[in-house]
Amino acid sequence: MEKKIALIPGDGIGPDIVHEGTRVLDAVAAKFGHKFTYETVLAGGAAIDKFGEPLPQASLDTCLKADSVLLGAVGGPKWDNVPGNLRPEKALLGLRGGMKVYANLRPALMFKQLSAACPLKDEIVGTGLDILIVRELTGGIYFGERGRNAENTEAWDTERYSKPEIERILRLGFESAQKRQKKLCVVDKANILESSRMWREVAESIKDDYKDVELSFMYVDNAAMQLVRNPRQFDVIATSNMFGDILSDEASQITGSIGMLASASLGDGTGPGLYEPIHGSAPDIAGKDIANPLATILSCAMLLRYDFGMEEEARCIENAVEKVLDEGWRTGDIAGSSIDEVKAAGKLVGTKKMGDLVIQMIG
Ligand code: IPM
Ligand code: MG
Repeated sequence: MEKKIALIPGDGIGPDIVHEGTRVLDAVAAKFGHKFTYETVLAGGAAIDKFGEPLPQASLDTCLKADSVLLGAVGGPKWDNVPGNLRPEKALLGLRGGMKVYANLRPALMFKQLSAACPLKDEIVGTGLDILIVRELTGGIYFGERGRNAENTEAWDTERYSKPEIERILRLGFESAQKRQKKLCVVDKANILESSRMWREVAESIKDDYKDVELSFMYVDNAAMQLVRNPRQFDVIATSNMFGDILSDEASQITGSIGMLASASLGDGTGPGLYEPIHGSAPDIAGKDIANPLATILSCAMLLRYDFGMEEEARCIENAVEKVLDEGWRTGDIAGSSIDEVKAAGKLVGTKKMGDLVIQMIG
C-alpha cells in the first residue's frame, strides 16, 4: 500500500522522537512491501515562531489531506507568556477540532519488563495493569462557551454535551470493551452535573446493544481514588474530555511507563486519525539524543492498526519493542532505580540507538 503521513514534529524532543518513528515506519514498509511518504507541517511553538500563530490553516489542511497524522509534542517555556489564544497548546485543540477526532484512546499499560518502575505495591498491581481510557476529545468544557464579564470580575467555562456526541464515544467504549475484558466503566459526576446525568441516560439507552459487556458507573472523585487503590478492577473507562484528561495522566503514572505510552485520536473513519505519545515536549532534553522514542514508535503501531488496517504490521512493531525491553535495553527514563546495572551491562542507550534496536528486531 502507498500512504501519505503528515508529520508534526512540534517542539522540544518532538523532532527527535518523530524522526525515530518514521525510521521505524520505513523499516516496516520495507519488510511488508508498503510505501509511506511524509509531509512535515509546522504546529505549536515552531509555528508561532515562524508564522505568529500555533496552527496555520495550511498546516491543518495538509493534515486533513493526509492518510494519517503523527505528532511529537508541542509547547515549552519559551511560549509560556504568549496570550492564551496563541499558546502552542491551542494547536492541539485546533487539530483535534479541525480533524474531528472526537475519541481519544489512551491505553495505560504496564510493561512487565518495567514493573520495577510502577509506584504501586506489588499486591495492588498483581500480574500487571492494562486499562484503556476512552476520552471524549472535541466537546465538553474544552470547547464550550467561555468568557468574562465586562467588569472583568467573573469568568466562566461551560460543560455542554449533545446526545449524539455522548453516544458515539460510549459506543466506542462498549466496542473496545468487547475486544478486551468486556467491562466498561463510565466515569462522571452525575451526583452534581446535569451533563453527567445525560451521559448515564445515554449509556442506559444503548447498553442492550452490548449485552456481553458489563456496564458500571463511577463518580470521578471515586475513580481517581480507585485507580490507585485497586486499578485492576478497570478494563475500559469512558469519560468526558476534562475527566479523561485528568484520569489518563493518573492512569499513565501508575503504570510507571509514562515514556512508553501511545495514544490515538480517532474520528468517524472518513478522515485521518492523530497519533501521539502521551508525554510532553521535555524541552530540557531536546536534541540531546536521550529522549525515549518508544511511546512514539508505539503510536506508529496504533497508526498502522487504526488508520491503515495493518494489524500484522502494528504487531510487528509492538513485538519488536517487547524484544528490545526483554533484552534489557533502556533509555534513562525507564532504567529507573536499576540505572547503574543497566549502565554496567552497556545497555543504557539514547534516542537513536533505541530506534536502531527496534528496527533491528523488525528485521
Ligand atoms: C493532553 C494534554 C492537553 C489536554 C493539553 C496540552 C492541551 O494535557 O493531551 O492530555 O489537556 O488535552
Ligand atoms: Mg493531559
